[in-house]
Amino acid sequence: MTRDLRMRWLTPALALLIVLSLSACSFAPNTIFGAHSEFGHSVDTLTRRLLYAGLTVFVLIEGLLVYILVKFSDREGNREAKQIHGNTTLEVSWTIVPAVILAFIAVPTIKTIFETQAKAVPSALQVEVIGHQWWWEFRYPQYGVTTANELYLPVGRTANFALTTKDVLHSFWIPQLNGKRDLISNHTNYIWFTPDSAFAWNGFCAEYCGTSHANMRFKVFTVTPAEFDAYIAHQKTLAVGSTPPAAAADTGKKSATPVPQAAPVPVMNVSDTSSATYPRSKLPEWVIPKTPLPVNLTFDQNVTGDAARGAAMFKGAPCIACHTIKGVPTAAGIIGPNLTHVGSRTTIAGGIYPNDLKHLRLWIKNAPEMKAGSLMPLFGKNEKGATPGLYTDQQIADLAAYLSSLK
Ligand code: CUA
Repeated sequence: MTRDLRMRWLTPALALLIVLSLSACSFAPNTIFGAHSEFGHSVDTLTRRLLYAGLTVFVLIEGLLVYILVKFSDREGNREAKQIHGNTTLEVSWTIVPAVILAFIAVPTIKTIFETQAKAVPSALQVEVIGHQWWWEFRYPQYGVTTANELYLPVGRTANFALTTKDVLHSFWIPQLNGKRDLISNHTNYIWFTPDSAFAWNGFCAEYCGTSHANMRFKVFTVTPAEFDAYIAHQKTLAVGSTPPAAAADTGKKSATPVPQAAPVPVMNVSDTSSATYPRSKLPEWVIPKTPLPVNLTFDQNVTGDAARGAAMFKGAPCIACHTIKGVPTAAGIIGPNLTHVGSRTTIAGGIYPNDLKHLRLWIKNAPEMKAGSLMPLFGKNEKGATPGLYTDQQIADLAAYLSSLK
């Protein structure tokens, strides 16, 4: 073997070795090789079966080829090999054998596709997934709950997802729970699976959908049925402080249909069924976003936000044209994420920043700088390109304090 030839084999062999070692890492956070739903297991089984079958065919064919090359290589004094051009038996057999192999692959593949594409049983948890540039809307129609970028699912209960999009194509993908399925305009796609373990997972958009396609992420929390019930019960409530006593005194009359008021959740603890959201202290490190902040963005560190002032301001702010906060009658926009319990979420901006005061303030101040192509405009008064008369850092701090209080 010449040196050149050796090099030619070395590179692909090394690449193969790296791919194989990477795929063996079942602890990799976003691996597709550690299935945690029966959907994942069926795809996994199919992949492995086909891989082993392909490997068997490969070894047989290559073994035969090498054997023939060695055994029948041209040597001095050999007579001319028998010419077999036009041998019908051979031609028919090397047509039929691959056809049989393809049928062997097609039957289980199509069976698996149909299984996972069907609508799930009616008793399943129904989840509507709506893709937006560049965030995820999740609705639980059985409970009247709408949220964004964070999905709670009970372990052991089948979840049936109905996938649609508000704009362009997106693709719903939680690597460790399922395969992926596209969100297509004017069409509802379905996917279902049953999570088999409680944990926190990363979700992604897996179809190029514009500038911030890579910034369209979400989190999935698989929790016990009791924890899920607590989560839903909490999400059904109105926003904290949405009907302050002062406002009630103004109108002088009580609401005709009293709606339960959300209690603040000071201690988040999943083992305690009265808790409503996944405890931040228990979040695995790899679901916490680490997107670097834009270098030019600054915020006055001396201001302290006031939630009550922020709440009063929010009612008449441009925010209400795009965002809903249940319990704030003026806030009924549906273009942006529903903010009723935004304070209880672990991330903002389509899962790319942690949900804390620092990031929330900068996001309100200059969303387009925080996320390329963001449809949310900038609201910082002093920002380059901002319309005059928008918000000072103090006002933004008040708004951020209010939104953070919406646990
Ligand atoms: Cu949505 Cu890519």
